[in-house]
Amino acid sequence: MSSKVGNSIGKEVTRVDGPLKVTGRAKYAADHNLKGLLYAVPVGSTVANGKIVSMNVQGAESMPGVVKVYHHHNVSGLYSGGDHAHEQRIPLSDETIEYYGQYIALVVAKTLEQAQAAASEIKVEYSAQPPTVTAQGLGNDLGQASARGDAGGTFASSPVQVDANYSTPTEVHNPMELHATVVDYKEEGFTVYESTQSVMGSQRGLMNQLGEPQERMRVVAQFIGSGFGGKLALWPHATLAAVASKDLKLPVKLMITRKMAAETVGHRPGTHQRVRLGAEQDGKINSLIHEYGSESSMGSGYRENCGEATPSLYGAQNLRVTSGIYHLNVGSPTAMRGPGAVPGTYATECAMDELAQKLGMDPIELRKMNEPKLDLSNGRPFSSRHYLECLEEGAKRFGWHKRKSTPGQPDANGNIHGYGVAGCSWFAGRGWGDVLLELLDDGTASVACATQDIGTGTYTVVAQMAADRLGIDPHLVNVKIGDSRFPPGPTSGGSTATAGLVPAVLSAAENAVVNLLQAASTDSSSPFSGISPHDLALTNGFVHQASQSANSGVPWGDLLKKLKRKSMSGKGNSQYASPDQTPVSMHSYGCHFAEVVWQPQLAQIRVSRVCSVIDAGKIINPLTGKNQIEGAVIMGVGMALMEQSIYDRQSGAPINSNFAEYLVPTHMDAPDVDVHFLDYPDFHINQLGARGIGEIGLAGVAAAIANAVANATGKRVRDLPITVEKLLS
Ligand code: MOS
Repeated sequence: MSSKVGNSIGKEVTRVDGPLKVTGRAKYAADHNLKGLLYAVPVGSTVANGKIVSMNVQGAESMPGVVKVYHHHNVSGLYSGGDHAHEQRIPLSDETIEYYGQYIALVVAKTLEQAQAAASEIKVEYSAQPPTVTAQGLGNDLGQASARGDAGGTFASSPVQVDANYSTPTEVHNPMELHATVVDYKEEGFTVYESTQSVMGSQRGLMNQLGEPQERMRVVAQFIGSGFGGKLALWPHATLAAVASKDLKLPVKLMITRKMAAETVGHRPGTHQRVRLGAEQDGKINSLIHEYGSESSMGSGYRENCGEATPSLYGAQNLRVTSGIYHLNVGSPTAMRGPGAVPGTYATECAMDELAQKLGMDPIELRKMNEPKLDLSNGRPFSSRHYLECLEEGAKRFGWHKRKSTPGQPDANGNIHGYGVAGCSWFAGRGWGDVLLELLDDGTASVACATQDIGTGTYTVVAQMAADRLGIDPHLVNVKIGDSRFPPGPTSGGSTATAGLVPAVLSAAENAVVNLLQAASTDSSSPFSGISPHDLALTNGFVHQASQSANSGVPWGDLLKKLKRKSMSGKGNSQYASPDQTPVSMHSYGCHFAEVVWQPQLAQIRVSRVCSVIDAGKIINPLTGKNQIEGAVIMGVGMALMEQSIYDRQSGAPINSNFAEYLVPTHMDAPDVDVHFLDYPDFHINQLGARGIGEIGLAGVAAAIANAVANATGKRVRDLPITVEKLLS
């Protein structure tokens, strides 16, 4: 063991779970092919607003291999899922239909093909009314999200004004791994292999819906093929798989289709936003008014919090943010990567660009002019804010000085290049949880926690945290996560898991070391017997006298063997922290610079390159960190130019529920992405100064691209996605 204490954090450690993934040994939920496994296929409603009048399941029930068909007449005894289920309806509870695709039956058969065939034979009669799937205005139940000063009055008297409406469409998460649930019911309880961003949350949701105690509900998610927020909550298919497995006393697998993924497992709701900026001629913003409405389902109160970043990003003395909601005949919305701040900063960062244009001012200068000294929404100092440095560094790396302020100047090939910039912000929270760390007699360590790795690198960064304190190679740390039986751990959501794991892992490591040194001091078979534990230390994996070098000591594995102990453990813990609970304003910041190429002859717009500078505190692993930002930027290209779920006005179906018609960027659409981290530790959040990094990279990308498109074409498209039709109209 040659590495030193403090040698793992900030290092480009390759993924510790990489070999398992590339060799196919990593087991995702649907890979659990248990003995006697049955296959479940849900049947979705083909109307979006109405009632089931009759359902004929007899034909389906008599088909080969069919074990049982579940529907609202034979499923009962389920409870509300509470906060852990974003679909508020209890599955198969009655004949009411609130959205297209709502599950009306579940077929269980011996093979997948038999279940699919029987599902297509279920005959349903509906009474249906036309669905409401589109929204206008700023919504109902208008609530004030934030306010200071006299925003309306100062806007009216401001010499320079921007007043613009923006909209963002419904977006679908589209993780590569579809939602899948395998439930293994036994007399003693449930084992649920679930693709989830929270084994604890899924456990709680299933306990709630099935009325089961915690000890009978085990949720396992060892590997997850991304979630982007869509796998934070429990969705009806998982509950139904559990119902079937319990009833039939056999394991049941249910994997939804790509079509169902657009209907029944949440989406980023469409938003309609009005932004007003009132400024002085010198660019000083007097007033910022951000009003928005977000689309929701009939039963859900979920609102896209578009004003998340608005009150603290700029120094406007007068501000008002209001939030409205529309109830539509669509499936329940849910969080999607950077919920709120992503569509919100799309609108506000485009409005900033429009203001800069009106003022004839450089967009970066405008932002410098309005940099606040503290968070004006609550009067608190910033924990660590380097927003302007992000802009300055980005401008240098990107070559911002080459931007032409007037659009439409073609290069030698007739292509028009446009440059755009936008800022981004995301709150910095800290997840809560417990960790059990064990030092083992083979010289390795293990860390157990009921958190999970959704593809972001949690296995690797947890190994780094433990290895850093223990002074060993991170690959010698066995990270045990993705199982609700481990000590309760954080949800992989809101960019809070890593920040929350830092205190828990470090304190667990510290406590394990203390316990080991104590035993080394007191056990008569120890070479350090009789030496005070305070005069002992663990460095580079060696237990030694603090006054002597590490190499003079004994590797902990050898020491444990002498003590006749298999392991020595320590517990650690992290307390939850959200922005409103801390005396400082904790956010991550950043900016994106985008270049687009507009080819008027072909009517083609492409993003050619993006430079992102991110201020997210200490970066624990620049490889996994950079990977997060690159992925987010490409997601932002989709948001800006391609992605939208389109609801058919007659059937209420999201009709482009497939990868042929719901466009996401391919490799050909991906720009060159230059990611740079400022790497200033923020010690308000944890001992390493590491804030989360999952969502910040998406905020602002669509605005930077929209601003670049306006710079290239002279045309401001405010309704996403920016399609060629909109550019030419
Ligand atoms: Mo994120 S939307 O909290 O997975």
